[in-house]
Amino acid sequence: MDRHNLLYQSLLVCVVTIALIRVLIKLFLTRPPKVRLPAGPWKLRVIGSMHHLVNALPHRALRDLTRVQGPLMMLQLGEIPLVVVSSKEMARKVLKTHDANFATRPRLLSDIVFSPTGEYWRKLRQLCAAEILGPKRVLTFGHIREQEMATEVARIRAAGPSTAVFHNLANSIVVRASFGTCRGKPTSSCRQSVLASSWRAGSRSPTWRPVLAAVTGMRRALEQIHRTVDTTLEKIIKERRGIWGSKRRQGEEDENLAAIFDMFASGTGTLVSALCWGMSELMRNKRVMSKLQGEIQQAFHGKATVTEADLQESSLPYLKLVIKETLRLHPPAPLLVPRESIEACEVEGYTIPARSRVVVNVWEIGGGPKCWDDADEFKPERFEDSMVDFHGSSYEYLPFGAGRRMCPGIAYGLPVIEMVLLQLLYHFNWSLPDGVNELDMSEAHGLGLRRKSPLLLCAAPFVVPESTCESTTSLNKLPMHGHRIKINLVCA
Ligand code: HEM
Repeated sequence: MDRHNLLYQSLLVCVVTIALIRVLIKLFLTRPPKVRLPAGPWKLRVIGSMHHLVNALPHRALRDLTRVQGPLMMLQLGEIPLVVVSSKEMARKVLKTHDANFATRPRLLSDIVFSPTGEYWRKLRQLCAAEILGPKRVLTFGHIREQEMATEVARIRAAGPSTAVFHNLANSIVVRASFGTCRGKPTSSCRQSVLASSWRAGSRSPTWRPVLAAVTGMRRALEQIHRTVDTTLEKIIKERRGIWGSKRRQGEEDENLAAIFDMFASGTGTLVSALCWGMSELMRNKRVMSKLQGEIQQAFHGKATVTEADLQESSLPYLKLVIKETLRLHPPAPLLVPRESIEACEVEGYTIPARSRVVVNVWEIGGGPKCWDDADEFKPERFEDSMVDFHGSSYEYLPFGAGRRMCPGIAYGLPVIEMVLLQLLYHFNWSLPDGVNELDMSEAHGLGLRRKSPLLLCAAPFVVPESTCESTTSLNKLPMHGHRIKINLVCA
């Protein structure tokens, strides 16, 4: 009997031990690997980390958080994880090494900017390249830029106070280049589009938009604006249909509508931002202003007007450096346009969960001391003999982004900025209004980088219009400083 008991007890111990071992094996071997998420600031229930961004400029608030949390940081905006990239090395990982995984966008609006990667987005990009943004096509818009600038120069000469120069100028150039005939009737449809698209470009919000929109009740207003613009552009497309012919299908028309809407929204906001900040920096840096004006005067000395052909023929290296430096310190899209991770992926040992929103703080990377000497100073010469460029392979300088979703508007946008600055500095001397000693450089709230206050400058013409000039060579004899006009350079 005792022997039986002993046997039973031994058997029981064996069974229990085996069961225990199996449970332990299961527990240790099949346990999911530990996920190491990027660090982030403290969170509150429901809203997550959103309170860290309230009442602050997003790129600046994120820069401050990054300095504590590191260059790969994760915030929680409600239910949505937001990954913030803030170093050259991390930007390379996200925009190059893992580009395919981060090349989609959160589906906030159905257009090219927010279109997920796929057949539809590819077709839209092709359409933009063919219709508007390709280098060859861009050249054909030269005459539009030329005409627009001639009109603007004449307008500044004749202007009284409160003339909105920059905003209208950039808008009208983009509108004319995209729609041709639209400018003939700017007061209604075009202006409506401009207003709405500027709003939309400025608030091309990443993650915050749907959340904040719902919370603040803005969503209805937002949808209303989107509808208004769509209707307006639909009219323009109808006009354009006459030129394209009636062969295109309805679906194609819709694609055109969305693509052109994007051109409009992206182009207008970013160009106006770049022009206003560029002019602001020139006003604050007299040395740079006089060096640039010297280069321009030397290149076109004695000409009554500067044409697109003149611009193409001259190289104007310092003008290009000034534009580069402006985009370094004031990238119009300081956080790029948000991406979304398709699958979970590892970046430098950290796991980025699938469907995380990702923003790259190019303002911090391009303006921070890690990659740049005297980072806060406006020194265009830093780009002289430098390989650093904005075409998406210098990760310390990414005003146009990088990778598959990089901005397709560079070839279109840069000549516009060049032409506008060139004309403004060739024809006028600029000064601050009486009584203003220092230019306010504050940024407006929002996701695009815009000036907070309108840029008020006085223009003193120093080349008279061709019509009043007997010959171009006689310009040398004309007085260099004419009357002073107060110009209100209103920035979008
Ligand atoms: C100073 C001028 C401009 C700057 C700094 C700028 C900057 C940017 C940036 C940072 C992005 C996001 C890139 C990324 O996610 O990696 C972008 C996207 C885009 N930009 Fe621009 N942009 C400028 C001018 C323009 C112009 C003039 C147009 C068209 C007329 C344009 C059309 C677009 C479009 C369509 C996208 C979306 C591309 C996509 O998601 O596939 N941009 N831009």
